[in-house]
Amino acid sequence: MEKRIAVLAGDGIGPEVVKQAIKVLQAIAHRFQHMFIYDVALVGAAAIDETGDPLPDETLEACRLSDAILFGAIGDPKYDNDPTAKVRPEQGLLRLRKELGLFANIRPVQLYNSLIERSPLKEDRIRNTDLVVYRELTGGIYFGEKGRMDGGKRAFDHCEYTVEEIRRIAEMAFDAALRRKKKLTLVDKANVLETSRLWRETVQRVAQRFPLVNVEYLFVDNAAMQVIQRPNQFDVILTENMFGDIISDETSVITGSIGLLPSASVGEQTSLFEPIHGSYPEGAGKDIANPVATILSAAMLLDSFELFDEANLVRSVVKKVIEKGLVTPDLNPDSFIACSKMGDVISLLIESDLEDESALDNLLEGKLPLI
Ligand code: IPM
Ligand code: MG
Repeated sequence: MEKRIAVLAGDGIGPEVVKQAIKVLQAIAHRFQHMFIYDVALVGAAAIDETGDPLPDETLEACRLSDAILFGAIGDPKYDNDPTAKVRPEQGLLRLRKELGLFANIRPVQLYNSLIERSPLKEDRIRNTDLVVYRELTGGIYFGEKGRMDGGKRAFDHCEYTVEEIRRIAEMAFDAALRRKKKLTLVDKANVLETSRLWRETVQRVAQRFPLVNVEYLFVDNAAMQVIQRPNQFDVILTENMFGDIISDETSVITGSIGLLPSASVGEQTSLFEPIHGSYPEGAGKDIANPVATILSAAMLLDSFELFDEANLVRSVVKKVIEKGLVTPDLNPDSFIACSKMGDVISLLIESDLEDESALDNLLEGKLPLI
């Protein structure tokens, strides 16, 4: 198979983690005889520095012409600390999502048994957690009208949703629930917000077409608590843009590190695959970031090409490596390997024969000394 992948590494640790994901994609290409062509393009603060625009036209064009987009991270403290900045790195990602119509952001949360102790939550609370967040990505408060009034002394961000915007992601989420544990939880704030009432109304209507799916409604404040208190009660969480942003960061705590969670943004044009974490500027250039979220995002990218064996191989190798205790410092500050080493180990194992467990041990212990 030949596919073109736009690579938007972005800011902070973005370039380092994306590099590891590309190593892994190359290992897959090698083993399964595929050809991936990478089209590297600028986005975020890196793009502002070079062109003045967080999403240059060439980048958007490269994305449109590709079969998938691999995205790193976006954000730079020099903009975070300057509330008056007119151009911000994040605008690049938001515009990209909007331009490509990527209305559904899918964020699976899976627990690795070998990492249960790394979670700050108690084992009996989190055991068997396996959920996925369907976050609406191109509407709501993120994209409503915003501005200042009264000579700058009053600010507003408008939150708006249409039935159609809710219906299309709700259908995707119900489809996912049907393929999973057949439970869907709508997270909203229908006791206060009109947009949330429209979400409930629309989801209730869609639900009639999915009688096998058990639907539950939770207010977002309660959901924030439940996700930590009893995460294993959830299957598919469906929610609007900003609630999804917040709830999905929160769910990452369950797994032990936000550096483990991948995502896929899908919709009308080329799908985009990115870790859910940010640019972690303090860690940039130090080879300490966790590349697993980006590598698992690459696995989701392979799924989108219908390369399911390849995607599952990536996931099973990641799992094996983690089970062997090979993790980056976010998961074990006392015994860890570097970001680049993690990419090396995973890609090496993909290219070798995993059926033989002793070969795996030899490879891990012999060929790749820990730092
Ligand atoms: C995410 C990020 C983005 C968002 C930022 C970088 C704009 O937090 O993808 O979760 O808020 O959507
Ligand atoms: Mg976020």
